Amino acid sequence: MEKSKYIWLDGELVDWDSANVSVMTHTLHYGTGVFEGMRARQTENGSGVFRLEDHVERLFRSAEAYNLDIPFDKKIISDAILEIVKVNNLNSAYIRPLVFLGDGEMGLLPGNVPVRVAIAAWEWGAYLGDEAGREGVKVCISDWQRISPKSFQPFAKGVGGYMNSTLAKIDAVKKGFDDAIMLSDTGSVAEGSGQNIFAFKDNMLHTPPIETGALGGITRKTVIEIANLFDIEFVEKDINVEDLMSSDEIFFTGTATEVIGIVSIDGADIGNGLVGDLTTKIRNKYLEIVNGKDDNFKDYITLV
Ligand SMILES: Cc1ncc(COP(=O)(O)O)c(C=O)c1O
Repeated sequence: MEKSKYIWLDGELVDWDSANVSVMTHTLHYGTGVFEGMRARQTENGSGVFRLEDHVERLFRSAEAYNLDIPFDKKIISDAILEIVKVNNLNSAYIRPLVFLGDGEMGLLPGNVPVRVAIAAWEWGAYLGDEAGREGVKVCISDWQRISPKSFQPFAKGVGGYMNSTLAKIDAVKKGFDDAIMLSDTGSVAEGSGQNIFAFKDNMLHTPPIETGALGGITRKTVIEIANLFDIEFVEKDINVEDLMSSDEIFFTGTATEVIGIVSIDGADIGNGLVGDLTTKIRNKYLEIVNGKDDNFKDYITLV
């Protein structure tokens, strides 16, 4: 990770290396935190954050779902996100706001423990590698099941829940795959370890509903809007593994991942084993939008 100069911590700009916490931090012990992942990109008018408001809304919804009362309002957090990109002189950046419980008391009922907020930003390239856009990725069906709505709040980006995602990701990479597809507790497709998933079959685009435990991804939302724009028929519906394997194209979506074709599952080619035309068309439009090159989507970009 390429360190930046500052991290925003509880309302102050702190040197990256000084933004430290106690080992008795509640979140370190119990995973009691929530976070966001967003990107700023260089546009022709300067650096701009994509769908800032949506990300901040989701951060607050995630916090509420896990009983964390953020001690700053949405305007302060939004301004801090823009500020951290600016003071670090970043043109394009991955931005990571983290809401966590500090130290004070141990135990599962966080009594006298402060809710703290850190916001970091740094340069982070393509999450699945520089070649993934062109070549696609090879994935497996994970033996690890996606967190269930009966045991977590999967729509929230809760720190502890990501133990589940790391199990799936590490296992996939150990087996020689780039990433994993996770199934829900009912056996239908939920999403990737850190991405939503779409399948294109018989001229129809599908994605699993949030009820499977998939995160309500902001890229997912944007891709649905792109599908509408291109008059691609789209439906949110349960997908099983057989549906996936017989799809013409499959792709992952996510802020870190962007839009990336999946070319094989467990060694079996999807379609012709290459990134499909529809995936490329949607990916290109997505990149145009996030880079501020489509005037119809300019409102999604908040300039730093
Ligand atoms: C588990 C999971 N699913 C899906 C996504 C994609 O969400 P978004 O498009 O909002 O980045 C992410 C990334 O944040 C994720 O961690």
